[in-house]
This record gives sequence, structure tokens and C-alpha cells, in this order.
Amino acid sequence: MSLILPLVVFITVTGAYSEYVVPPTRLRPAPYPEWAHYHWLANCHCSFSKLLLCRVWLSNDRASQASMTQYAQQYLDHGIKVGAVDIDSGWSTGFNNFIFDAEKYPNATTMVDFFHSKDIKIILWATSMIDTDSTNYDEANSKGYLIRDVLGKEAVFSWWHGKGGLLDYTNPDAVDWWHHQMDKALVYGIDGWKCDGTDPYILELILPLGKRGIVTRKQYSDAYYGDFFNYTRKQRGNETLIMSRPADGFGPIFLDFSPHYVMYSGWVGDDDPTFDGLESALKSYLQSAWANFANFGSDIGGYRSGSGSLGRTKELFIRWAQLGAFSPLMENGGNMEHRPWKFDTTNQTLDIYRNWFLTS
Ligand SMILES: *[C@@H]1O[C@H](CO)[C@@H](O)[C@H](O)[C@H]1NC(C)=O
Ligand SMILES: *[C@@H]1O[C@H](CO)[C@@H](O)[C@H](O)[C@H]1NC(C)=O
Ligand SMILES: *[C@@H]1O[C@H](CO)[C@@H](O)[C@H](O)[C@H]1NC(C)=O
Ligand SMILES: *[C@@H]1O[C@H](CO)[C@@H](O)[C@H](O)[C@H]1NC(C)=O
Repeated sequence: MSLILPLVVFITVTGAYSEYVVPPTRLRPAPYPEWAHYHWLANCHCSFSKLLLCRVWLSNDRASQASMTQYAQQYLDHGIKVGAVDIDSGWSTGFNNFIFDAEKYPNATTMVDFFHSKDIKIILWATSMIDTDSTNYDEANSKGYLIRDVLGKEAVFSWWHGKGGLLDYTNPDAVDWWHHQMDKALVYGIDGWKCDGTDPYILELILPLGKRGIVTRKQYSDAYYGDFFNYTRKQRGNETLIMSRPADGFGPIFLDFSPHYVMYSGWVGDDDPTFDGLESALKSYLQSAWANFANFGSDIGGYRSGSGSLGRTKELFIRWAQLGAFSPLMENGGNMEHRPWKFDTTNQTLDIYRNWFLTS
């Protein structure tokens, strides 16, 4: 303390601070839109059929236009602003054909307009994997738009949403075709994508072959996330964003997923709804920071389903909300209950969440 005061006086009197503190007017504007730092909601996993009470836990594949709009509206009604909503997997008629499932999402125009009227951006889940039972698989496969295995063999991967092939980003015709697929959703005026992690599946092939020869995992990841980011900006302007992984771990092994230039609103992947899961998220934060990634967060309360009727404890949820508020992206999503007003009957969790939200 005794040294600090003279130092402050010295710096102030001599103007030496200008060497250390850059006035805001001299800072370059951020190369990304501000909503990268707003409060985001990811997919909703519950049924709202019974008077908006969450009675039945549903997989994200069952979310719908009605449930997603109601979900966001509930946050607004509880005084918590929502900057963006992620509609997670299951919105399309096939993985990944980019065609809205009209049974769950009867009018995408109305939905996008609803969110935009509330100043909420909307992003859609996507990956680079086209399922064999998706309407666009046969065309992609027959035209040679998919990554092949040794000797040009068709490469079908078993992943968490079925079986599919990976788009070949080294083939310009494939990329053009893919852009037309993406346009089917972009025309509704969506603001970006949650690009989930299918890129590591390429490691399963002995010799992953693209049109231009062997493709490494890192080349594949760079092309996948980079193309989603660039093409969406090209079509919908520089106010768009994608959500993708910076570094994320598989046990002790960490992979760098995205290229750095897309990492404005990332998340560190799927974690357990426990304090071990919170620790695991923090390890991914550190690995991501060490790998020079900026601007990411984690699913508040953890992604996976846990025990108990809510899937996570009140204490864990509150601690994770505090972490989220101090993360560049405060993002709340994952399986089972994540709504702050559902963790007690006294509004304590809600009040804490709202306070941290306002602080963030
Ligand atoms: C987007 O482009 C406009 C016009 O060139 C520019 O004024 C704005 O700062 C850019 N925004 C971002 C986020 O880069
Ligand atoms: C969606 O809603 C808009 C506005 O109400 C309407 O003009 C349009 O025809 C609807 N589209 C479909 C496919 O129902
Ligand atoms: C995206 O655009 C950037 C900047 O224009 C470029 O450096 C990068 O190679 C592009 N990425 C892809 C995958 O096309
Ligand atoms: C909780 O907050 C809501 C408003 O968000 C209010 O209507 C309700 O009475 C509060 N409940 C308690 C127990 O304070």
C-alpha cells in the first residue's frame, strides 16, 4: 500500500499511464458482434404440454418451435435477458440436410421473427456428417462429395446420431453443394450455427482421402469450422457467429478443435453435472487459453443428465452460474433442468442467477 499511492501519483502527474492504458477511442473495434458476450440459452429438454410444468424429460430431438419459444419467453418473464437461443439437434428432417422438420417447427419464419422481435439471435445445431438415411446422402455419396477410406472405399461412421459420411471440404464442388444445403436454413434469417464435434471421427479412417489427397484431422477441423463461419458471414453478414469448441478433452488428451478466427462464442463441450464435471470444464478452459483461444464458456450446470429429479444440485448450478457469468460467453444449456427458478421454491437460485447475470 505504501508504494502504490506514490506510484499512482507519479503515473498520473507524468502522464506515464498513456503507455500502459490505451484509451478506448484508440482501441480497434472487436472483429465480431457484441452478442458473442450475451447470455445464451441452449436446447430445451422438457415437455411443456402440462401447463408449462416440466413433467417429462425429453431428449433434445423432441424440442419444438413451441417449446423453444416458450423456453426463451420464460427467462424473459423472470427478468433474465436472452441474447441468443441455440436450437439443438433434431430440428431437421435428417442429419444434416438443413430442412426444418415441419411437424416440430411448423413455421420457421414465424419462429425466427419471434426471436428477433425480442432481440434474441437464433443459431441452429449442425455438423459436417450426413447421415445415410438423410435425404441428401445419396447425392453426396454418388457425386463423390464425401471423405473416403483407403482405396476410395465409402466411409460410413457410427456417431451419436446414427451412421453417416463426412463432407469432403477439399472438393470445391462438394463445398458449393454444401453451401446450397446450408442456404435452406439460412434463408430464414438465422444468425449462425452450433457446429458440433464430428471432425475427430476422421481419425477412425486408416487413410482419409479427400479429392485433393490425404486429409489430416487438423486440416479437416479447420475447413469444417472455418467454412461454416465464413460462408454464414458471406450470406448473412458480419453480425453472425458460430458456436464451436476451442480445446476440449477426452480424458487426459486435449484436442484443438476450431481455428482461432472463428472462436468468438465457443463452448468447451460436454461435461458431467457434478463438481468433477465443473473441474473438467475448467481444465478445458485452461487448455483453451494455453492454446490462445479467446471467448468461450461452458454449459452452466453441466451438459449431461445426472441423478435426482433435476439432474444436478442447486449448489452445483449456482456455482456454475457464477463461473458462467465470469466467462466471455455466459451460456446455459444441456440435459434435464437448467432453469434457475426450478431449483427451489424461495427464488434464492433465481435471485443469485439474476444478480450474476447482471454482473456479467
Ligand atoms: C461489420 O461491417 C460493418 C460495415 O463494414 C462495420 O461497420 C462493422 O463494424 C462490422 N462489424 C463487425 C462485427 O465486424
Ligand atoms: C408462416 O407464417 C407467416 C406469417 O404468419 C405466413 O405468411 C406464412 O405463410 C407461414 N408459412 C407457412 C409455411 O405456414
Ligand atoms: C475463411 O476466411 C479467412 C479470411 O478470409 C481465410 O483465411 C480462411 O482460409 C477461410 N477459411 C476457409 C475454410 O475457407
Ligand atoms: C418468486 O418470484 C416471483 C416473481 O419472479 C414471485 O411472483 C413469487 O412470489 C416469488 N416467490 C417467493 C417465494 O418469493
